Amino acid sequence: MSARRPLIAGNWKMHKTVAEAEAFIQRLLPLVYASDAADVVICPPFTALAAMVDSARGSRVQVYAQNMHHAPAGAFTGEISAAMLTEIDVDGVILGHSERRELCGETDRAVALKLAAALDAGLEPILCVGETEAEREQGETERKLRHQVQEGLSKIGAERLPEVAIAYEPIWAIGTGKVAEPEQAQDAAAFIRALVAGRSPEQAQRLRILYGGSVTPENATDLLALPDIDGALVGGASLDADAFAAIVGVAS
Ligand code: PGA
Repeated sequence: MSARRPLIAGNWKMHKTVAEAEAFIQRLLPLVYASDAADVVICPPFTALAAMVDSARGSRVQVYAQNMHHAPAGAFTGEISAAMLTEIDVDGVILGHSERRELCGETDRAVALKLAAALDAGLEPILCVGETEAEREQGETERKLRHQVQEGLSKIGAERLPEVAIAYEPIWAIGTGKVAEPEQAQDAAAFIRALVAGRSPEQAQRLRILYGGSVTPENATDLLALPDIDGALVGGASLDADAFAAIVGVAS
């Protein structure tokens, strides 16, 4: 791992009621109390955000949302704005997760607007990118990543690039137990960093790139040792406080 500070984020997806989230955070806090060498983030569903912000206050754990709308307000039933997140002291937001792209029809353009709105509001975004299994088999991985990274970052100035974390999440590795080979993860992360360097070589060295897709305490050591991987976006294993803390332990 490089001089960039590692970031371990747990994406809970549509899991945990407020009561379950409380039980999780009470278990997690003492486990990560001493891990001061990595940033630790949990991404609960909207309904548990405020409770998690309160419970994590003064600790090492930051709280991110899993999505937001780009507009400041308006007739967008079911959506949440950046100001609604910052009002309750949420620190950041996951944007463009493949499940939102595939299941909710989120486009690169929408993700780009969200990313700019998040930064303007003072939220730290995690931009998710990644190819499907078919795209990888057809040699389309780089084309897909180029499109998602360049479009996703298209509405922000180069000076803001280091405020963004990019999560490389091959879709075939998400929730499947089929983790990317270290070489695949490193190649993709290096390619993403080179794309960012096309905007600014200096800022590309500061921007953090995470790997996501079936990360566990067991495979985290190999993944986090890769030169261009600066952390992990963890789904399934982040639902268990002990497993998540073990991954944080590897990073720190
Ligand atoms: P997973 O999910 O760790 O369960 O594969 C990762 C993600 O979707 O961010």
